[in-house]
Amino acid sequence: MGSFTAFYLLVLYLVLNAAILCNGGKTSSYVRNIKGCIDMPLESDVFQAPPGYNAPQQVHITQGDHVGKAMIVSWVTMDEPGSNTVVYWSEGSKDKKMAEGKLTRYKFHDYTSGYIHHCNVKNLEFNTKYYYEVGIGQTVRRFWFITPPEVGPDVPYTFGLIGDLGQTFDSNVTLTHYESSPHKGQGVLFAGDMSYADDYPNHDNVRWDTWGRFVERSVAYQPWMWTVGNHEIDYVPYLGEDKPFKPFSHRYRVPFRASGSTSPFFYSIKRASAYIIFLSSYAAYGKYTPQNLWLEKELQKVNRSETPWLIVVVHSPWYNSYNYHYMEGESMRVVFESWLVKHKVDVVFAGHVHAYERTERVSNIAYNITNGQATPVKDPSAPVYITIGDGGNTEGLANNMTEPQPDYSAYREASFGHAIFSIKNRTHAYYSWNRNHEGYAVEADSMWFYNRFWNPVDEPSLSH
Ligand SMILES: [Fe+2]
Repeated sequence: MGSFTAFYLLVLYLVLNAAILCNGGKTSSYVRNIKGCIDMPLESDVFQAPPGYNAPQQVHITQGDHVGKAMIVSWVTMDEPGSNTVVYWSEGSKDKKMAEGKLTRYKFHDYTSGYIHHCNVKNLEFNTKYYYEVGIGQTVRRFWFITPPEVGPDVPYTFGLIGDLGQTFDSNVTLTHYESSPHKGQGVLFAGDMSYADDYPNHDNVRWDTWGRFVERSVAYQPWMWTVGNHEIDYVPYLGEDKPFKPFSHRYRVPFRASGSTSPFFYSIKRASAYIIFLSSYAAYGKYTPQNLWLEKELQKVNRSETPWLIVVVHSPWYNSYNYHYMEGESMRVVFESWLVKHKVDVVFAGHVHAYERTERVSNIAYNITNGQATPVKDPSAPVYITIGDGGNTEGLANNMTEPQPDYSAYREASFGHAIFSIKNRTHAYYSWNRNHEGYAVEADSMWFYNRFWNPVDEPSLSH
């Protein structure tokens, strides 16, 4: 090819790229009335401990293995250790089974936790409703959950997406909207930053307890899968608390060993037709580090004929056009983005920025120090990046955006809300973001996702 032809083709390529990317992102015109985000007071009804001596509280469940046949049940007792046993049975069965858990507790500065119980209930049947009881021998509380369908390529499944939730009045609205969503989320992918206890003097861990009681009404009945955020780090050397993630590690468990991970901060699960990879913005990710070595192998394990949908969840966004935490995710993007494009990840969910944003399918992986190619370009193999750090925590909204809106940004809005990712089959998933709008959940952004492996054609953008 002659150099003139090559130059002509290059110009044509750049013009086409620019044309594709310049169709204009949208900054929502909806302006939320910011009244301040105030934590609910300790005496709020959503924080009340259940009645009865040593009654289990802060009950929460998460997937306990790699495929969805196990569930980790966790709870806290305050008066004494009490029983570690979970009694469980499938709906309609009289055959009650028991599983035995383990106990832990911790001190944090002048705070001492209750007795924290974790029990991995294994060998469950797929797609089955189970009842379970904790507090055996004292105050017994009963809950239920439904296990996911067996892993397979066309199995429908609906995930909720919540991030940066906190425990304000706005957080309560977000959770209520998620619970009452007509899309009926069956499990939550949580994008990190849970209680915001570390915003209190001495990281008052009582606010970890209140958060556990607040979210119990959802997470005791459907699993929430955890990604750590910076508010889980709780690193306070001047208080003698020099081991990061101490409260989180005692209170929340994830099945990291089932995916060959050596750390609870990065792991994967399969659930129905999805393969979900949870990464940590706060564990080392450079070359030769455990997270880097694990992710490289992990991406090669994904079989899109079994799990067509490949989802990544991480706290700090790689594409973010707000003036908050701007470029904090950049170093991790540089390390990992090319792998996600190579393996055709469908979507990356992040939190951290307290607002909502969805990108076009773009990548920025051509840069090689000398070629100057450092601008995101349209890339059908790239994930859509979604920032969902809008749960409603005490730090308030991120409402200051970079201007003009970058071409990669398809839709952005400084409001609180939650999202739903509803997989229909191997080719289609319906996604919606639902704004907290004067007491109602209003679907403000949505799109049909076309699977990157089975249906890798351009998706129409349906921003409202
Ligand atoms: Fe954060």
